[in-house]
Amino acid sequence: MPALVLADLDQRPELRPAAAALFAACPPGHDHQVCGIPERMGLDPQPEDLTDCLGVLLALSGIRLVGALALCPYSAQQVTLWGPAITERANAKPIAAKLMREARVALRSAGYESMRCLVDTRNRSARAILQSHGFSAWKDNHLYERHLVRLAASEVTGFRAASKVDHPGIARVLVESFPESDHCQPGLATRESEGFRHYLLEDRDRIVAAAAVDGIGRRSWLKMIAVERQNRGRKLSRKLLSGILAAEAKLQVRSIGLEVLADNVEANALYAHSGFDRKWTAAIMTAAL
Ligand SMILES: CC(C)(COP(=O)(O)OP(=O)(O)OC[C@H]1O[C@@H](n2cnc3c(N)ncnc32)[C@H](O)[C@@H]1OP(=O)(O)O)[C@@H](O)C(=O)NCCC(=O)NCCS
Repeated sequence: MPALVLADLDQRPELRPAAAALFAACPPGHDHQVCGIPERMGLDPQPEDLTDCLGVLLALSGIRLVGALALCPYSAQQVTLWGPAITERANAKPIAAKLMREARVALRSAGYESMRCLVDTRNRSARAILQSHGFSAWKDNHLYERHLVRLAASEVTGFRAASKVDHPGIARVLVESFPESDHCQPGLATRESEGFRHYLLEDRDRIVAAAAVDGIGRRSWLKMIAVERQNRGRKLSRKLLSGILAAEAKLQVRSIGLEVLADNVEANALYAHSGFDRKWTAAIMTAAL
């Protein structure tokens, strides 16, 4: 095998389709490399997905692309790895090692503190490779999906798509439930200009539950759903979610997906009850830089 050479996709843009094909060759199953961009998880990787990454490292053997590792945005301190995706099982370890070393150097110099990676629990070799690079499993994460085609339209009392006057009430519910998220900063209007849709459930003129949905076309993505603390346990999330499913179906969206921690008992019960199928489970693995 010729010597391995690393390249940055920005310097070799002609390799974008080949790199996307390499990720596409690792679909859900025992070779699965979970996409690090949540709303694209489980969808056929497209070349444009790679443009949304912070960077993509390529491993070349002669002129052949044999490995790729994408660095996906997560927070100001942490990135999510997508890959390494490698063509040759026999040489996976040295190719992965070279890509991981280079990723560490690049991320450290860019000021990041740590990395995370979602590893499909069926992909034992990916888990072993990451462990050998200092990653350890934190928690399991489930990916759910629900088809929206032929969904009967239903009227849900108190449910509606948000307008600007609703933003403070929605932000109150979301910030209380997701204090570490930056979704409500600088404001929900900004998120809506980025493509998010917000939905709410009102009870006696008060916003008691809210949700943020992203994406359109291939699949929409339920980024967050929450009921204000004092109103939990009243099945209000089921009402809100059934309104969301009907509203998204009207937008001609084929399906809706989401990820949720496996230990979030209330949320897992909600999705199972609302007709979602569990597609796979991934271990969230993290490592310091
Ligand atoms: C997940 C969540 C939206 C569920 O909302 P909810 O409308 O309170 O859900 P339910 O009323 O159906 O309650 C779910 C289960 O938890 C129990 N439960 C949850 N909170 C409770 C509370 N404060 N008091 C009593 N029971 C409660 C219920 O008994 C129910 O169990 P059951 O289905 O076996 O009866 C809500 O717990 C929440 O906002 N969590 C924080 C945000 C979050 O984790 N969102 C999901 C990830 S994006």
